[in-house]
Amino acid sequence: MNTQVNGTIAVFGATGQQGGAVVDALLDRGARVRALVRDPESGRAQALAARGVELAAIRIDDPASLADALATVEAFHFMTPEANSLDEVEAEIRVGTALVDAAVAAHVPHVVFNSVFGADQETGVPHHDSKHWIEEHLGKSGLRATMVRPAAFMEGFASVMAPSLEHGKIVLRLPLAEDVAVKMISVRDIGRIAAAVLLDTADAPGGAIDLVADELTGPQIAAAFGARAGLPARYEALPLTVLPSELDRAMFRQFAQAAEHPADLAVVRAIEPATLDLAEWIRAIGWTVPTNAVAP
Ligand SMILES: NC(=O)c1ccc[n+]([C@@H]2O[C@H](COP(=O)([O-])OP(=O)(O)OC[C@H]3O[C@@H](n4cnc5c(N)ncnc54)[C@H](OP(=O)(O)O)[C@@H]3O)[C@@H](O)[C@H]2O)c1
Repeated sequence: MNTQVNGTIAVFGATGQQGGAVVDALLDRGARVRALVRDPESGRAQALAARGVELAAIRIDDPASLADALATVEAFHFMTPEANSLDEVEAEIRVGTALVDAAVAAHVPHVVFNSVFGADQETGVPHHDSKHWIEEHLGKSGLRATMVRPAAFMEGFASVMAPSLEHGKIVLRLPLAEDVAVKMISVRDIGRIAAAVLLDTADAPGGAIDLVADELTGPQIAAAFGARAGLPARYEALPLTVLPSELDRAMFRQFAQAAEHPADLAVVRAIEPATLDLAEWIRAIGWTVPTNAVAP
């Protein structure tokens, strides 16, 4: 077993993307996992149980349920739910605060908060500043804490930011200037690195790790998909006004500012040598040319 931690590890959000990837990586390494779920009967919770994950029913507004779920665990990983409005940002902070307070009540030996790249500072992006405040709350809690701060998920290029096929070319459109490099990582690798931190097989100097596996401009991202498709590729920079949400506009402005400071891509590979760059991720997910082609 590739772990220095033998006790149970608690995971919040295990039925979601990142928490699910953390569970995958922990189970691969032979760890015992307890998932904190709001609906133990849901299909996703039951699928976890079928893989040997213990389920603990929790309610965010019930501190006793949270502290019970965290009793006797050796480490705890949490992320906070997606926020698409200022009300949801408030809810996100409530979730993070409740989880930290429960970890304090349960004397959890090590808490890993899956935050966001850049949350070491306030940036004016509401759903990033929420994570900054949760980091501060955790930092002041007296608990041993590690922040893992993922950049944009590569999975976005298979959903909301997916390229299209138009007139025989792969076309990618993002609200970012051509020379802005986007920092990114796959959800699989977020899970692997978080698991290494939880199992104490990875160091986090200063109590935090930025999770960046690749850093590419729009034209470079388009070219990576074009190379996979064997087709020419084109990038089109869109204005920020195409984004309906002010939260997203603030986030894309922040992507442009963050691009001024290149990341050290060796950091995550020192922990997980098989970390995927974008071209590898495109192959790993079996990406194929989109079928909703605009006719030539
Ligand atoms: N997208 C990106 O590029 C990116 C990059 C960096 C950081 N982030 C951050 O990542 C976070 C989202 O992570 P994700 O994509 O892994 O989330 P996700 O797939 O949407 O999963 C959310 C998880 O949280 C659980 N959950 C939500 N509200 C809950 C509640 N009140 N009580 C109990 N469980 C609750 C859900 O449980 P159920 O199954 O019961 O719904 C689910 O397991 C956001 O904070 C986002 O800002 C995103």
